[in-house]
Amino acid sequence: MIRFLWQVAATASLFACSHAQSETSSSYYTSPTIYPSPNTTGIGWDGALEKAQSFLGQLNLTEKVYIVTGVRGPCVGNIAPIPRLNFTGLCLQDGPAAIRVADYASVFPAGITTAATWDKTLFYQRAAAMGQEFKDKGAHVILAPVAGPLGRVALGGRNWEGFSPDPYLTGSAFALSVEGMQSVGAQACGKHYIGNEQETQRNPTVNGEGETILAISSNIDDRTMHELYLWPFADAVKSGMASVMCSYNRINQTYGCENSKLLNGVLKEELGFQGYVMSDWGATHSGLPAINGGLDMDMPGSSFGSQTLSFFGGNITAAVQNGSLPESRLDDMVLRIMTPYYFLGQDSYPSVDGSSADLNGYNPATSNYSFTLGTDKSRDVRGGHAQLIHDIAAQGTVLLKNENATLPLKSPKRIGVFGNDAADLVTGLYNTNNLNYAGAPGYDIGTLAVGGGSGAGRFTTLISPLEAIKRRAYAEGAIVEYVLDNKVAIQSGGRGGGLGPPTGKISPKPDVCLVFLKTYVTEGYDRLNYEADWNSTQLVANITSFCNNTVVITHSGGINTMPWAENENVTAILAAHLPGEQSGNSIVSVLWGDVNPSGHLPYTIALNESDYNTKIVNQTNTNDTDPNAWQDNFSEGLFIDYRHFDQAGIEPLYEFGFGLSYTTFNISDLSISATTNASLTQLPGDTAIQPGGNPELYAVLATVSVTVSNTGEVAGAAVPQLYVSFPSGSVPEGTPVRVLRGFEKRQLAPGASEAVQFMLTRRDLSYWDVVSQQWSLPSNGSATVQAGWSSRDLPLEGELALTIEG
Ligand code: NOJ
Repeated sequence: MIRFLWQVAATASLFACSHAQSETSSSYYTSPTIYPSPNTTGIGWDGALEKAQSFLGQLNLTEKVYIVTGVRGPCVGNIAPIPRLNFTGLCLQDGPAAIRVADYASVFPAGITTAATWDKTLFYQRAAAMGQEFKDKGAHVILAPVAGPLGRVALGGRNWEGFSPDPYLTGSAFALSVEGMQSVGAQACGKHYIGNEQETQRNPTVNGEGETILAISSNIDDRTMHELYLWPFADAVKSGMASVMCSYNRINQTYGCENSKLLNGVLKEELGFQGYVMSDWGATHSGLPAINGGLDMDMPGSSFGSQTLSFFGGNITAAVQNGSLPESRLDDMVLRIMTPYYFLGQDSYPSVDGSSADLNGYNPATSNYSFTLGTDKSRDVRGGHAQLIHDIAAQGTVLLKNENATLPLKSPKRIGVFGNDAADLVTGLYNTNNLNYAGAPGYDIGTLAVGGGSGAGRFTTLISPLEAIKRRAYAEGAIVEYVLDNKVAIQSGGRGGGLGPPTGKISPKPDVCLVFLKTYVTEGYDRLNYEADWNSTQLVANITSFCNNTVVITHSGGINTMPWAENENVTAILAAHLPGEQSGNSIVSVLWGDVNPSGHLPYTIALNESDYNTKIVNQTNTNDTDPNAWQDNFSEGLFIDYRHFDQAGIEPLYEFGFGLSYTTFNISDLSISATTNASLTQLPGDTAIQPGGNPELYAVLATVSVTVSNTGEVAGAAVPQLYVSFPSGSVPEGTPVRVLRGFEKRQLAPGASEAVQFMLTRRDLSYWDVVSQQWSLPSNGSATVQAGWSSRDLPLEGELALTIEG
């Protein structure tokens, strides 16, 4: 076994330059080969491996190949039925916020919204509700959750599908999502493994000369890989994740779906992953190299884009027959796929809803495979999830500014509503992809409740902000005036048809102006702008020119700069992210104070866009003839998002972890205690690998407790956060100033207090040591622990001292 992960020929030049064009390919990290692909032992899935073995024993070679190769069918991905064994096949459906291709299903708040709740109970409940909907539609595998992208680059087009650029927060949400989804019997497929941090050139292209230009290579050093991008995957593997989707991009020059170091060496061996690796759609670029490299299932198998034949399928049959692929490897692929199937009881599962076939444009009558579809088409699987969706979206709304206690609203009698984002959809309820060029801001009039691409959802219901505001205002005897077309709303105000009072489009002058901004995001494209779309800054300027009580609400799939934040007529700001189908109801609950906002930012909002250090690689030279030209060096290492701002001493506009409430909280009584007085080894012991890796990494080495109190007049939820810093000298260079290592959420009545405990594991207190290839405690065993309300508001501080052996 090769122990060193990434070989680099010219480290100095790698770190000297963040763009690839000036470098030669020899200067990048490369990914070594690790063979063979480890066999599953079924740990954690008691009894299921035996059932899978018995099933395998009944399969002939052709049938084994069926299990590992996708075919066309009623779902987004399909494994063919084997009727003689009563195996009805597998139905795989997108995605991370909803069962995308479905009717009578819910659209949940996106990952980014969910992360902003900082609420572990909601992380789990959302996933369990989603899992139930997938199951009720007969979908065995949920192509979610997402921890890649992690969110390295603020403008990444798919960051919203995942949770947060902080690996600890993402790890918690990712693992609890897996647990929630699988608690009801659906399989989770965590994606995209790994380094899928931008959409631009995520796939290979063909240049004018007909040459293939390879997909972008995310060049990631070993420590950064472990401490940032791999961290959440370790958490989810520990939670028993059934499946992992390998990504489109290359990592250290090798495609994600044939990267034996990452699939065999890291995922299956180091993390002890027992399930199967499926390709992203069309991400398989070879047969034997991919199979030997650790890929277990090819999706969608055949008929994808220009690719009509799978690298798997008959090629595997031939390879086994001619001896180039040992049948034992194929057997392990089958076992890895079938063990979680049996473990989750999927041998007894609802039939695939017939509407899946219709919506996917599939005609069972012309198929070679006998998929059995449920005759009760268009089953309504929403199951009363609207209230949960409403709660998550409300709790994931972050109150960023609230001057003069503008919010909650005090029964205003005249309400102005502005912006294309307040309106109902006018171009249909299924906006999977509204871009025909990079950076186009999607559809114009209509609220943004979910992003586009495979992470989208077809709305069965969508409550727009205007609709809910009108309903609320009517009940309170208020009037609502609105201008929804930004083009009209940015015209100058006043007499003669402009916006402002007294004779313009708005009269009389509103008591409060609610301005709704949106930022479209979709798979396949990265964003081009940090500000919200559709002339958002001009819109805010125009409304604030006549309205001195303006509340700005953003619906955004990512980080926005807010050049209008300090405008004194902007009295309140709410970042409502992508709220899902109950959008209007959720925002009304927050605006009127039925729900006290308790969301906190899962990322950093900078004062200036130039404060962000990581960028999308975008080669303007489209005639490039170097097939290997697309290189993305993650040379910032661990310094992304708040870790960068802290390291560089940059003042953000609103920092990671920040969020206001309609009440006030106090935090006190920090106490830190090591769980053992015995001395500890710097490295974990050599214990047999379990899913998640060395189990010693998850041993709790210290507990920290604080007391949180509600010192205000109304009930509210406090989000105490715990950060750990390592003393320089005891850890290698490149260690962040502080890292999140704990958070909790507590609902508190006015005057109430509660003690909150955080557990710090060995991994939480370690760095990845590239020499020993282990997680290592700092040499002197000490760490500074800080607790408070955000990454920059940490009133409590203490020292943790562990005794390190020898
Ligand atoms: C490609 C996307 O990257 C992936 O996330 C999705 O699950 C598949 N397409 C299937 O739609």
